[in-house]
Amino acid sequence: MPDSAFKVLEILERSATPISGEVISNELGITRSAVWKHINELRMMGYDISSSQKEGYRLARTSAKLLPYEIHKKLQTKFIGKKMRYLENTPSTIWIGKQLCSEGDVEKMHGMVIIAEEQTGGIGRMGRAWVSPSGGIWITIVLKPHVPIDHVFMITMAGSIAVARAIRKEFDLGALIKWPNDIFIGNKKVAGLLLELSAEADTVHHCLLGIGIDVNVHLNNFSPSLQNSITTISAEVGHEVDRASFLARILKEFESRYLLIESGEYDAIIQEWKSMSCTLENRVQIRTLKNSFEGDAVDIDEFGALIIRKDNGKLERVIAGDCSHQ
Ligand code: BTN
Repeated sequence: MPDSAFKVLEILERSATPISGEVISNELGITRSAVWKHINELRMMGYDISSSQKEGYRLARTSAKLLPYEIHKKLQTKFIGKKMRYLENTPSTIWIGKQLCSEGDVEKMHGMVIIAEEQTGGIGRMGRAWVSPSGGIWITIVLKPHVPIDHVFMITMAGSIAVARAIRKEFDLGALIKWPNDIFIGNKKVAGLLLELSAEADTVHHCLLGIGIDVNVHLNNFSPSLQNSITTISAEVGHEVDRASFLARILKEFESRYLLIESGEYDAIIQEWKSMSCTLENRVQIRTLKNSFEGDAVDIDEFGALIIRKDNGKLERVIAGDCSHQ
């Protein structure tokens, strides 16, 4: 959002009574027609601003959209989310991230969060589609990680911990992590994460951490078969929730874990991930691109691989695949 529109909004938020265009223009040192232009920009973003010739402007209702300004007000991070891109509607925020990284200086985009109100071609793991109607949190975090390439996948672990932790803290719900990077409440999936990596030899150019969370989404947006296996935050708590506060919390939780990875404190991440896992100590069925087998999930290693004890006692290391609990 343009800075001056921000400032107009701040004045409206501060004022308990209607405020005239003249007062706003004097306070900001801009013309009354510029004030009017910014009021219209804010209205386009979903802020409900009433106006009367006699009294002036009044913020009747803040926007229900997941706007950068609303997140910014609550953000407590050093660099994650300091830059944001907001799109009403886009095929996928990962796709936007790829485009931005191919055109610009990735170092300058480190920590940028791309937010979509709605995705029309959301991408899930293993080439699956990700249903992303409005009401959810569909974001991609752009990173230029200073992490050895063989530990980059820990960034997804940090993301999973952040989402699960934020769900617990904001809504007091018992969120757990299902390997590799699904977030579950009870036996239903509420969020999924995806890491897209651009690397060459042992150099990581950038990575894009896509996070999708079913927040204020109606279950009837999903196919009947999915409706039984997923849940949403609003369905769990019984009302719609403030997505901006929730997202600000996720970004804060993520940043602190990301910094641990950058300083080589991998064990702290692994231990926290394990403490929130619903996969470990479970009987699981694994499906990889090559094969499928059963066993007991006994551990996770520092590369994020799941260690399975097969029925013949042999240990198998699974780096990528689908896992179902039995
Ligand atoms: C999964 O399959 O569980 C991972 C889903 C990841 C979805 C998110 S939504 C934001 C970002 N943009 C996408 O197109 N996908 C990820």
